[in-house]
Amino acid sequence: MEDKLAVNGGKPVLNKKLPPSFPGALMIDENEINQVLEVLKNKSLFRYYGPNLLNKVKKFEEKFSEFIGTSYTLAVSSGTASLFISLKAMGLGEGDKVLVPGYTWISTPLTVVECGAKPVICDIDDSLEIDPASIEEKLSNDDIKAIIPVHMRGAPCRMDKIMKLAHEYQVKVLEDVAQSCGGEFEGKKLGSFGHMGAFSFQLNKIITSGEGGAVTTSNGELYRNAVAFHDVAAFYRDPKNIPPRPGLNFRMDEVRAAILLSQLEKINNIIGKMRKAKEVIKRFAEDSGLTLRKLNDPNGDTGAAIIFIFENVNKAKKFSHALSAEGVPCYRLYDVEKPYDAHIWINWKPVIGDKIIVDDKVGKHVTDILSRSVEITLNPLIELEDAELIGKAIQKVSSHIS
Ligand SMILES: Cc1ncc(COP(=O)(O)O)c(C=O)c1O
Repeated sequence: MEDKLAVNGGKPVLNKKLPPSFPGALMIDENEINQVLEVLKNKSLFRYYGPNLLNKVKKFEEKFSEFIGTSYTLAVSSGTASLFISLKAMGLGEGDKVLVPGYTWISTPLTVVECGAKPVICDIDDSLEIDPASIEEKLSNDDIKAIIPVHMRGAPCRMDKIMKLAHEYQVKVLEDVAQSCGGEFEGKKLGSFGHMGAFSFQLNKIITSGEGGAVTTSNGELYRNAVAFHDVAAFYRDPKNIPPRPGLNFRMDEVRAAILLSQLEKINNIIGKMRKAKEVIKRFAEDSGLTLRKLNDPNGDTGAAIIFIFENVNKAKKFSHALSAEGVPCYRLYDVEKPYDAHIWINWKPVIGDKIIVDDKVGKHVTDILSRSVEITLNPLIELEDAELIGKAIQKVSSHIS
């Protein structure tokens, strides 16, 4: 292998383009197509009635509950909707404070704000997930009603510590599983630990219907509240079971549920393939002396991403620049030149105003660690020989970065 870096005019390690990172979408085949055709041929577009109702949404909800290990699933229109509906179902509103990690997609804090509640920002640790020590500090100093642990970039939060704290301080837990569907902590699926779980099936996610989401829970009352809020006519449809409370419309449709039924059958294969590719890349990275993001449970990681943490921003910049030139797409998790990154929303203060509570120490640490972190996003079409080439490119670039 030529040693001169591609960024300096050498030959790149990869001379082919890797597949783009849309895990579920890349696996779409005849199964999804036939599912959708079945819905169209039966004119069964709406979940509650139609000329020949196929009940695809209901079937997906049953299968998803079985997969996650909860008593109930409510399929909804997006991940953002699943967060909003869950917060409403848990009764959060004006004046309530909710713990949210400093690293998540902006939907997490904004849905709290939309409820009239205030997100209080927690620090993240070397796993880039919410730091249980920061949760404990906030719980002991403030009147907090709920915690939203967000399982970031395919990997789990410390759910044992988080649930213990939630129990001790009597607060609700809503897991945001948008980026980690199918991930686990100590053998149990994410989205089955908290009082509620929120999932996204948007195009970038591990399984997808383009747009879509789901709420999971094993609490009957929270489930019925969620049903009531996600459909303006829910009470009218089922007055014996659904509480008469005002809601909006965030319903899932039959076409998307049909796609998701097919995607759900593939999820173990998708995760299995990503994990295998990640194992190969990880070996090269460790041999090169790189520091990887800590995993709270390596067995529960979906393999959707591999993230390196450098000692300083300069090294992270040089590494990502050089690795990209070798043909491996990668990016730093925070770039100060792009202040309106929707993952680094703590910098959106001019837009969100004083609706969020973030102290300077937490803000500085979150932006510092993320600006030193470089991610390669993985997908199930990365073959083992591609993974080896990615590993070799990492090895080559690492030997030049000191
Ligand atoms: C952590 C997290 N939460 C919530 C969402 C919102 O999901 P959606 O885009 O389906 O509304 C996303 C989507 O990217 C996400 O990454």
